[in-house]
Amino acid sequence: MKHQTQIELTRAVFHHLANGTTDRAAEIYQNPVAHYTSAERLVREKTELFLGRPLMMALTCQLREPGAFITCDGAGVPVLLTRGEDGVVRAFLNVCRHRGARVAMGCGVNHNRFQCPYHGWTYDSAGYLVAVPDKHSFEGIDRSEHRLVSLPAVERNGLIWVQATPSGIDVDSMSIDIDRTLAGLGTELQSFNIDTFHHHTSRQLRQKMNWKLVVDTFLEPYHFGILHRHSIAPIFFNNLCLFQAFGPHLRVIYPRRSIEALRDRPETEWDLVHHSAMVYVLFPNTVFVVQADHFEVWRIFPVEDKVDETVIFLDFFVPEPATSQSAIDHWDRNLELVTGVVSDEDFPTGEGIQFGFLSGAQSHVTYGRNEPALAHFENTVTVSLEQ
Ligand code: FES
Ligand SMILES: [Fe+2]
Repeated sequence: MKHQTQIELTRAVFHHLANGTTDRAAEIYQNPVAHYTSAERLVREKTELFLGRPLMMALTCQLREPGAFITCDGAGVPVLLTRGEDGVVRAFLNVCRHRGARVAMGCGVNHNRFQCPYHGWTYDSAGYLVAVPDKHSFEGIDRSEHRLVSLPAVERNGLIWVQATPSGIDVDSMSIDIDRTLAGLGTELQSFNIDTFHHHTSRQLRQKMNWKLVVDTFLEPYHFGILHRHSIAPIFFNNLCLFQAFGPHLRVIYPRRSIEALRDRPETEWDLVHHSAMVYVLFPNTVFVVQADHFEVWRIFPVEDKVDETVIFLDFFVPEPATSQSAIDHWDRNLELVTGVVSDEDFPTGEGIQFGFLSGAQSHVTYGRNEPALAHFENTVTVSLEQ
């Protein structure tokens, strides 16, 4: 983040601390409970948001080596991401053109050879069909028409965006307008040098709550002093955040109490990144958390057609590869702190909320003016479905 921006934001934090305030939305926002429980709405969310927009699918370092690949089913279609020997990132539907099996599973380095595990049709990392066992039995088929189906993919600022599309769309005519997609957030993302980071470890979680409730978890500090009073409340201020929207995306900053130490330092030395957690929602479903010295990336997907089930891919990125045991232990402890708070405190609460939604107790939930990021995210989902 630009140093001048850090200075201005730190001044805003000190202003809020002096006045007992926080960034506030113009109005209270009421969100219908049905937005979290409606199966019909989830169908539209999946079509419009998960298939109809580019999704942040991976960081550059997860696909750094030529020949590397990643698979992901989260968006509702099987996606295969590759980096070719030419260094270019490409995305495909992970569907063999013989009879439809996945041609790759998990992630790894394949060096230009995706051999379908069913009958052995083989594709290169550009999706071309390069080998067919017993080719005489398939004489006459046009291999160029049996390539893996491409999806639009773009790599920018250390992030890889893919548009998984609904069936029936001519993907060859599609591309991602990345500047439009980033909606003004590109310069700030670039400042974090995301492409220089290294993948440390990953976790996968399943929760019995709507996917938006999982995103909501990260969007307000109003609960820190109550729900997290024994965990992170001593580290962060309660009910104090700085909020900014970037088109559909957003940034919400939670200052650490350690920021008080900056009061005695000249502004030229102010380093907000080290005295806060910066949460970005890369709309619709990625929560990108810039911590003082590492990144956590939460990619959040609905499970099939279930309004109350979510799969979460958490990836943890560090500035240098952890090679010594002490470095590995250090980052593992960091990860356990984060996942412990979220899994032991936030998500059980969220699952209770989802269960309570079905009771009919209320038609709406209410976001206070002190929860501006929550209102922006939920409103953006709603507006996106209306377009
Ligand atoms: S389904 Fe892939 S080779 Fe048969
Ligand atoms: Fe929380």
